[in-house]
Amino acid sequence: MATNATWYTNGKGKNVKVLVCKDYETLSKRAAGILAAVVNGNTNPILGLATGSSPVGTYKELIKMNEEGTLDFSKVRTYNLDEYYPLEPTNDQSYHYFMNYNLFDHVNIDKNNVHVPDGNAADIEKAGTDYEAMLDEIGGVDIQLLGIGNNGHIGFNEPTDTFIGPTHVVELTESTIQANARFFEKIEDVPTKAISMGIGSIMKAKKILLVANGAGKADAIAKTLEGPITPFVPASILQLHQDVTIIIDEAAAANLKEYKPEA
Ligand code: F6R
Repeated sequence: MATNATWYTNGKGKNVKVLVCKDYETLSKRAAGILAAVVNGNTNPILGLATGSSPVGTYKELIKMNEEGTLDFSKVRTYNLDEYYPLEPTNDQSYHYFMNYNLFDHVNIDKNNVHVPDGNAADIEKAGTDYEAMLDEIGGVDIQLLGIGNNGHIGFNEPTDTFIGPTHVVELTESTIQANARFFEKIEDVPTKAISMGIGSIMKAKKILLVANGAGKADAIAKTLEGPITPFVPASILQLHQDVTIIIDEAAAANLKEYKPEA
């Protein structure tokens, strides 16, 4: 058994699998391996993708596999979780740009098969409804890759008193604006709105893969896995999904109490 990654269990059920990795490189390789297995195991694979810093290493590994000829993107379709609003896809702060820069420009994907919510739509509400209709049409993605916010958000589903089902327009919270300010020149440049898959859209995925690293995520990970299911910790809903894998580093696993290394 590899010593740099350990499966954890809470002994209560097998729907949520937790893999704790020694470092970010291991985490990224394991996450890429799971995504690659889905691509290789489906004739017309559909990936749900995320932006943010957490999956960047995973995308690098996927690019490597593509270069080495072990992973073919020619039949892959992708659906991204979210996009800032208002922002054009060519703006270098947009999530569409991020995906091109970190993945799509480096693999043999057909860009016609790439879908990112339209942060530049004249009618943003309609853009959300249309995106959700597309997700319904495909019957959910084969696997949805997620990061997690320090406050437990997934996509741009921020902590609040209700779970919102479909793709929708969101007002970003102060904590998310601050967390994302590192990607912008100044905090005033961070858009205050976004269009995001909802909790229902995410839960439609056949499989879910969440990656998180660093001490800043430890509290959100512990609440997601071991706390009550509540819209105040949006990721806690994942406890109800039938097939979730959570890949984290040791720092992000530090606050787990019930999840322990498998015997
Ligand atoms: C990105 C997204 C967000 C991020 C989360 C973590 O598409 O939907 O939920 O996954 O904010 O971001 P990082 O990975 O930058 O810590």
